[in-house]
Amino acid sequence: MSEITKNAVTPAAPAWCEQAWKDIAGKVDRTSRRIGARFPHASQAGQYVLEEPHWWTAGFWPGLLWLLYRESKDERLRSIAEECEAQLDGVISAYYRLDHDIGFMWTLTSVARFKLTGEEESKRRALLAANLLMGRFNPQGNFIRAWNPWNEHQDNRGWAIIDCMMNLPLLYWASETTADPRYKHVAIRHADMVLANFLRPDGSVYHIVTFDPETGERTGALGGQGYAEHSAWSRGTSWAIYGMALSYRYTGKQEYLDAAKRTAHFFLSQLPEDHVPVWDFRLPEGVPQYRDSSAGACAACGLLLIAEQVDPVEGKFYRAAAERILHALYSQYGAWDDEAEEGLVLHGTSHYPERRNMDVPLIYGDYYFVEGISRLRGSRELFW
Ligand code: GLY
Repeated sequence: MSEITKNAVTPAAPAWCEQAWKDIAGKVDRTSRRIGARFPHASQAGQYVLEEPHWWTAGFWPGLLWLLYRESKDERLRSIAEECEAQLDGVISAYYRLDHDIGFMWTLTSVARFKLTGEEESKRRALLAANLLMGRFNPQGNFIRAWNPWNEHQDNRGWAIIDCMMNLPLLYWASETTADPRYKHVAIRHADMVLANFLRPDGSVYHIVTFDPETGERTGALGGQGYAEHSAWSRGTSWAIYGMALSYRYTGKQEYLDAAKRTAHFFLSQLPEDHVPVWDFRLPEGVPQYRDSSAGACAACGLLLIAEQVDPVEGKFYRAAAERILHALYSQYGAWDDEAEEGLVLHGTSHYPERRNMDVPLIYGDYYFVEGISRLRGSRELFW
């Protein structure tokens, strides 16, 4: 990891964070008794709907439990997280549709456990996952292929998506762990491709960029989970903010920090008065303006990482912005007193174009919220 932490002193946590942490711990203590070692994604009518372990969100619940375990040393939470990780063995060995979200899945399970406990089996699993992620790299276009076809007529061999910025840390980690730079080379080539093809001059980003998989030539862009090709999907923007800040952390490449800042400034300029983003920042009249609290939580984590990597005066700007978002999520979007709701943070939107999971708690919103509060309280160790 490059030595670029300029803000060596962690600022004091805002007073409200202690209560927030207690509220999180209390709620997760309850919800974990029902959810156990399963894989929640979106909460509907108060209960998390459970997915199969191959779904891209499989890492967030165990990752959240590791965040809590790191402080409480609650062995019950640890064993749930470990059981979730063990179930992913079946996915990696017997499921042929694994896609680039391998990064999300194994970073928050095996890498997290390895970093916290030194478990060798977790290191082996995470390295296996990193090798599979490397295998999706298309050297002609310098991109990691995102998905496999969603139906038999679809050809998405040449699709790359902004979300993959959050999968790159698995590759950087693999290079550090093995001292083999190949993983890092691939991550850098993908991140450079994102700089050239996804970032718009105003700091917004495309969700999907398409390439000819044979020649590597860019062929276009698609709206994906955003409203349209030229709109500005807020969670995609947050993937770019945090992903670029992480790529800077591992490489020290100034272009990545500049990109993280540019996307962060765009994101912050688009926030409504309560600091929690609408699911897309460029919606025509008449389209529902659902919030996406998960985009706010992820962006806040990215802003905190930018704050640590710039000089202290500049860092105050990014940290203050992150605190405003996290405080808004805690004080206005939380479900702390509602025992009938399992989600921690309300009002996330997973996929408006397919009208799926709109205005509901999302497990990745919960995860990034807990990561953000943990960081405000002084933790600097990242699973990413
Ligand atoms: N990575 C998929 C999503 O952000 O919904």
